[in-house]
Amino acid sequence: MQGRYNLKNMIRFSTAGESHGEALIALVQGMPAGVTVDLDFVNRELWRRQQGYGRGGRMKIETDKAHVLSGVRHGKTIGSPIAIEIVNRDWKNWEEKLPVAAGDPAKHQAVASPRPGHADLAGALKYNFPDARYVLERASARESTARVAAGAFAKLMLRELGMEIASHVIRVGRVELERAATWEEIRAVAERGEIELSCVDGETEARMKGEVEHASRTGDTVGGVFEVVAHGVPAGLGTYANWDERLDGLLAWSVMSLQAVKAVEIGRGVTAAESFGSAVHDAIHYAAQATEKPTRFTREQNNAGGVEGGISNGEEIVVRGYLKPISTLRRPLESVRFDTREATSASYERSDICVVPAAGVAAEAMVAMTLANLAHEKFGGDSALEMKRNFDGYIEQIRRF
Ligand SMILES: Cc1cc2nc3c(=O)[nH]c(=O)nc-3n(C[C@H](O)[C@H](O)[C@H](O)COP(=O)(O)O)c2cc1C
Repeated sequence: MQGRYNLKNMIRFSTAGESHGEALIALVQGMPAGVTVDLDFVNRELWRRQQGYGRGGRMKIETDKAHVLSGVRHGKTIGSPIAIEIVNRDWKNWEEKLPVAAGDPAKHQAVASPRPGHADLAGALKYNFPDARYVLERASARESTARVAAGAFAKLMLRELGMEIASHVIRVGRVELERAATWEEIRAVAERGEIELSCVDGETEARMKGEVEHASRTGDTVGGVFEVVAHGVPAGLGTYANWDERLDGLLAWSVMSLQAVKAVEIGRGVTAAESFGSAVHDAIHYAAQATEKPTRFTREQNNAGGVEGGISNGEEIVVRGYLKPISTLRRPLESVRFDTREATSASYERSDICVVPAAGVAAEAMVAMTLANLAHEKFGGDSALEMKRNFDGYIEQIRRF
């Protein structure tokens, strides 16, 4: 969909790197100059993505750190492309198994039988690979590390405009958070010194841990639902004017593009489908006094999740991602050997059991990038100062509306 846009006005990013390669790379382009860069914040985001109850051994090997190669000087962006490298500390164990040069075939490590639920079979067929090693290497959610690094820069830009993004977990397997969470509670999840399942309710989190333990005991895995909330987003990002500029579509695309996310919901999208309109839509009122928001138009509820007609409406943006259970099972499903076509068990490689909190962090990055892109498109500017001036002018305009 990038084709629709003038690339010059876009904040765009791409990633490179294999799961067991030397490093991951994120390249962020189009970011205005003068955005304050807090590297501790970027590294904390990377740390958050590595946490969670039910993660595999790899998270103990790696402590991801962003190595910024370009685009940032003296603590601020300078308007040129930002290249970020995140070294894979495990590379020393893979150098001979996955060399760039031809290497010694005896030392290579094939993924001999495709794992159901992974890209293994479809990828091997598509690219004509003899086994699924190369497929796994790039299809792996290790790639989301680079997204989180890029997304941290998007968050830093949004911060200049008073917008913030956080996530929490509302379901692990059969256990669901049965109450609404406030923005303060969700934000506090991101501040925790220890991250388990990122649920705002302690009793529910304990039951969620029980689901992970059950999966662990039985050689199984578990999925769930995370919720990303964007706070402080003014009305007016995105538009109904063209199908590929709608905020809901762009959010769904960006979050769905994450590994293992199989459904995306905006606001109460799923339950709205089974309700009457009168119970779903958010009535509009006008406050007698100024509120903390720019506009005095108010809502008492936010079933729309902050998006109506493909435009942000000034309420919190609420995006839920539904994760399938992790595909790599310690008690593997049936599969077939690539070389002999004989029936066997799917390959097993060290794996997570539950990743819902980490997926929420990666989804925050995707939502941040989507909003940063739309904010920059709307407010423009080559520097943070210019963008902020345009933003403030717009806020004043809707304040007076
Ligand atoms: C943060 C995160 C970590 C993940 N870790 C694993 C893992 O350790 N093992 C695994 O089998 N799948 C893991 N996945 C999911 C797979 O990457 C994903 O299911 C697979 O690549 C197939 O893609 P698809 O589910 O989008 O179709 C993880 C996903 C996320 C978001």
